[in-house]
Amino acid sequence: MANPGSGSDIVPVDSSHGPQASAGTAVIAADAFENPGLPPHQQRVTDLDPKVDRRNERGVSLIFYLSIVFSIAAIAAYFAVPIVEDDPASVRLNNLFLGLAIAGALLSIGVGTVHWSKALMANHESVEARHPTRGSEATRARAVEVFDLADKESGFGRRALLRNSLIGALVAVPLPAIFLFRDLAPKSNDPAGMLAHTMWKEGTRLARDPYGTPIKASEVTLGSVFHVIPEDLEEAEHKLEEKAKAAVLLMRLKPEDLNVSAGRETWNYDGIVAYSKICTHVGCPVALYEQQTHHLLCPCHQSQFDIKNEAAVIFGPAKRPLPQLPITVDSEGYLVAQSDFHEPVGPSYWERRGDYDV
Ligand code: FES
Repeated sequence: MANPGSGSDIVPVDSSHGPQASAGTAVIAADAFENPGLPPHQQRVTDLDPKVDRRNERGVSLIFYLSIVFSIAAIAAYFAVPIVEDDPASVRLNNLFLGLAIAGALLSIGVGTVHWSKALMANHESVEARHPTRGSEATRARAVEVFDLADKESGFGRRALLRNSLIGALVAVPLPAIFLFRDLAPKSNDPAGMLAHTMWKEGTRLARDPYGTPIKASEVTLGSVFHVIPEDLEEAEHKLEEKAKAAVLLMRLKPEDLNVSAGRETWNYDGIVAYSKICTHVGCPVALYEQQTHHLLCPCHQSQFDIKNEAAVIFGPAKRPLPQLPITVDSEGYLVAQSDFHEPVGPSYWERRGDYDV
């Protein structure tokens, strides 16, 4: 009799006399079924009729060719149903046709492969005796034999039509990706220039964000801070993108508090300085100005920039100062840019050069 507390006991049981072991005890029934073995092997029509065999072969090839057609259709759909800027419907249509075509291509390969294995590969049952996984020389030799046999029985080496059509389908399937990945690149012929330039140019007035009203130098009092956009931002083709690059913070300090490096003496106007609002860490807006210390704080990861020292990083993960926008006033006393920034704004990127010229 088994010990009821032990889960490892195995007790022979004659189930015709009711349960004799406690719950949880493994039992071997004395009247277990005999292994019925495998059912007799039935040959398929393909095995018996060479004509059906060839017909199936052509059918499978046809499915693989269909996959190629779908892959080509995906490329055609990319051009025939292009994504039109500012038109969400075109994005939906483009994705729909591309998705259907690529799904068709992959599905055809799957269906063709299954059909091949069901209808044409050898279908006799095999029993594999278990053995240690370590491969002896004999085992390895046998593996090669089995591989050769599989090749022979599947017809991969022999059925050139099938094999080549499958290889063709597999080669064609990734082709649409070439065209899809192209869309990840910026549209411009000069993507580095796109990142490096903003809307600011000589004479562009500094205007209040979001109203776009220009700012006079006389309105910028000591300790005040203005969120600034280019006055002509409304006319930009891609307003949000341009704003994301051109946003500026304007502050006034006592001129004697500014430590100005050589070459930048004329970049401020009577202590009024303009710096990019885009954090040089990962691009959050640097929006918090501490007027006593003249520090700018980025709320994302707490980088701090010292406006007295040309927005040098004094704390946090940012690696370079905020770019300065050279400013002056026009004949009516409005603040204007002298030029674009002299370096790219925002986070560093791999094309960024230290000696960037505007
Ligand atoms: S984005 Fe400004 S500190 Fe990270």
